[in-house]
Amino acid sequence: MDAVAAAPRKGDVVYFDGRYLMKSEVTVSPDDRGFLLGDGIYEVAAAYDGRFVALDRHMDRLRASLREARIDDSVADPLESVFGELLERNGFNESGTAMVYLQVTRGVAPRTHAFPKTKVRPTVYAYAAPFPEMGDLQSGTGAITRPDLRWSRCDIKTISLIANCMANQEAKESGNFEAILIRNNVALEGTHTSLFGVMGGEVRTAPLSPLILPGITREIVVGLCRDNDIPLREEAMTESELRSADELFITGTTTEVVPIIRLDGEPVGNGRPGPITLKLENLYVAAIRAGR
Ligand code: PDD
Repeated sequence: MDAVAAAPRKGDVVYFDGRYLMKSEVTVSPDDRGFLLGDGIYEVAAAYDGRFVALDRHMDRLRASLREARIDDSVADPLESVFGELLERNGFNESGTAMVYLQVTRGVAPRTHAFPKTKVRPTVYAYAAPFPEMGDLQSGTGAITRPDLRWSRCDIKTISLIANCMANQEAKESGNFEAILIRNNVALEGTHTSLFGVMGGEVRTAPLSPLILPGITREIVVGLCRDNDIPLREEAMTESELRSADELFITGTTTEVVPIIRLDGEPVGNGRPGPITLKLENLYVAAIRAGR
């Protein structure tokens, strides 16, 4: 063992089952239902200069995911402070951007499909990190379309993400950032982002339903359209509308507002970020700076 312990790095302090620990100290049981069955939910929130964007909405969605998954939602009660505490303990609380990932699984029990017969304590794990490195997306990026092979409760923010991972991997392998998921001829959302289109000056996005995640960034952008007299209709685009949209963009907590300028290798509109997308990008950044 080294005589002098290495200085802790940013992101090393994590939260696990009620305690703040070094990440290297965390051990997860192989019987954890998250590990064995993907039986858990998660949340991701972003902070700018130490201030979270819409943390109350993230907490509401966390509780909704827990309730819908029938995991005791009182587990969420002490968790709001964990978000801020992780920023602080990892030195992310001053300037720049950071994210906190938090997941709750149904807990540790011998593997059965049905819930454990005796009450088990949900496992809670959270960490803070810099935003994922995504390159320069703001000037526009590419997407592919893929059939939506996920389940029918995409409104629950479940950690079971294999269908999302597989579609996103296909996007990455073809030099694109995102895969737009299409079910029954309707374009719903990306693998980890919400989807918007602009057609004839009107912004379109899928309505809330069990087939999409109720994105917090989506909700903020919908509010920005309403507040700034940008026409908006919450009606999903059909696949052919998606392909003929004047503008496309995606939104997400760490992705923010990103123009899609290529779809399946074809230019979207004139192949450059459109005026409404750019306007919403700017409004979003301004809203975050204003602490919305
Ligand atoms: N992804 N749709 C899906 C399927 C998502 O996984 C996400 C978020 C979004 C955007 O939601 P929000 O604006 O609340 O981040 C839409 C997160 C960030 C992730 O999986 O890392």
